Amino acid sequence: MTKITIAIDGYSSTGKSTIAKQLAKALEYVYVDTGAMYRAVTLFAMRNKFIGGLKEDIEGLVGALSTIVLKFIYNEELGFSEMYLNGENVEKAIRTLEVSKNVSRIAEIQAVREILVQQQKEMGKDKGIVMDGRDIGTVVFPDAELKIFMTASADKRAYRRYKELLDKGEKVSYEEVLKNVESRDYIDSHREFSPLRQAENAIPFDNSDMGLEEQFERMHNFALRIINKKGR
Ligand code: DC
Repeated sequence: MTKITIAIDGYSSTGKSTIAKQLAKALEYVYVDTGAMYRAVTLFAMRNKFIGGLKEDIEGLVGALSTIVLKFIYNEELGFSEMYLNGENVEKAIRTLEVSKNVSRIAEIQAVREILVQQQKEMGKDKGIVMDGRDIGTVVFPDAELKIFMTASADKRAYRRYKELLDKGEKVSYEEVLKNVESRDYIDSHREFSPLRQAENAIPFDNSDMGLEEQFERMHNFALRIINKKGR
């Protein structure tokens, strides 16, 4: 069957990865969570004190980028790929609020974006991929056959993320999570390089009042329509 490229972009905590994972599974496509790559570089920068302390050392981080090896390794049991940083499984470590607080700063750095975008293009060169992020439809795969732009109100997104963090045992307040969601929205959409914006031919998708099943159904239909048309 004809394989296409699916780009899912949008604001943080809109549930992009949940739906992208389901879609990839249903179509037997590869799923790539590009946020995990920016998060892994952030974790590396925090651990090596390039960021997060009293003084930032962005030049030092850029100099050390060539020593970072990122890999997605499929976990059969979980049914999705996990992020590895220099051989270590960091899937849990990259999802903390601490990393979320620093990640937008790292995602603004042009040298970081160039390296990660290059790796992402490589992963998608054979199509059959669902990739989620902020610049997939605009920069990574401008020719993607299906582009979705996900939105939801900031308080709904913050509440979802707050519940997720509580479930993982993190001690956070709703206000703190809301502040983080709003500040990431601002930084992500105002940065100089590849700011978050809806690609011209992307389908806007507001899931504020939509359950998972309905979201999946709709997206799956969008994809099947394009695949069937191409296959004819
Ligand atoms: O999707 P996420 O919340 O895990 O992404 C973490 C951060 O990484 C987010 O604040 C913006 C940044 N990001 C980006 O700039 N470009 C991407 N393609 C994916 C994520």
